[in-house]
Amino acid sequence: MNEETGSNAITEKAISVRNLSFTWPTGASVLRSCSLEVPKGEFWMLLGTNGSGKSTLLQLLAGLLSPQSGEIEISGLVGFVFQNPDHQLVMPTVGADVAFGLVEEKLSNDQIRARVREALAAVNLLDFQRRPIYALSGGQKQRIAIAGAIARQSEVLLFDEPTALLDPDTQLDLVAQVQRLVKSRGLTALWVTHRLEELNYCDGAFLLEQGKVVDRGEPQRLKQRLMKDEV
Ligand SMILES: Nc1ncnc2c1ncn2[C@@H]1O[C@H](COP(=O)(O)OP(=O)(O)O)[C@@H](O)[C@H]1O
Ligand SMILES: [Mg+2]
Repeated sequence: MNEETGSNAITEKAISVRNLSFTWPTGASVLRSCSLEVPKGEFWMLLGTNGSGKSTLLQLLAGLLSPQSGEIEISGLVGFVFQNPDHQLVMPTVGADVAFGLVEEKLSNDQIRARVREALAAVNLLDFQRRPIYALSGGQKQRIAIAGAIARQSEVLLFDEPTALLDPDTQLDLVAQVQRLVKSRGLTALWVTHRLEELNYCDGAFLLEQGKVVDRGEPQRLKQRLMKDEV
């Protein structure tokens, strides 16, 4: 197992999935004995054709769905960043939106302010605290969604095609920023994409086919494999 992930036995895992199976109520069997591990502090990507089960797997990892069988172990709080930030940002301004995620924690106003500032600084948007959400670009909105997860002290970040709606420059800015955040804060990230150039920023990747991980490891090797499939 550890040979497959390219990491040694003593590496701590932030995400462990063993023999996960999931069937939608419609009868569509989506995950079939799916297993994967993401080492703590690393940035991994999840690749696979449409319908291979990537979004379903992320929803299972986030606890939004329950598997019929198999095990999921995650160390730390999970933060989720969706493809479309308009489905995620709920408050009128940047600062209010990041603070909104903290309502369940019993924090003082000073503690909330400190968490919000720290999280916005982490995504380089501290000056945007009072801006209305509608005035932000798509990439800035994604960074606010990430700031929300950081403010809640999430240690494991899940991204479901976060760059699908972004232009190419913003796309690479976002992936580079997430790479820096993972490394500087010791976070762990699993990022779904079909844009192969993003593989240059990750530590490793999984290839999902029909609900099973069929390949994993070195991003450049997976990139070559998929580029061959594309032509
Ligand atoms: N809410 C749902 N109800 C029933 N079936 C679903 C639902 N969401 C996804 N599916 C089915 O699960 C399969 C995998 O979908 P999904 O996990 O979204 O794949 P991917 O993200 O890799 O494109 C597809 O066959 C899809 O039709
Ligand atoms: Mg999907």
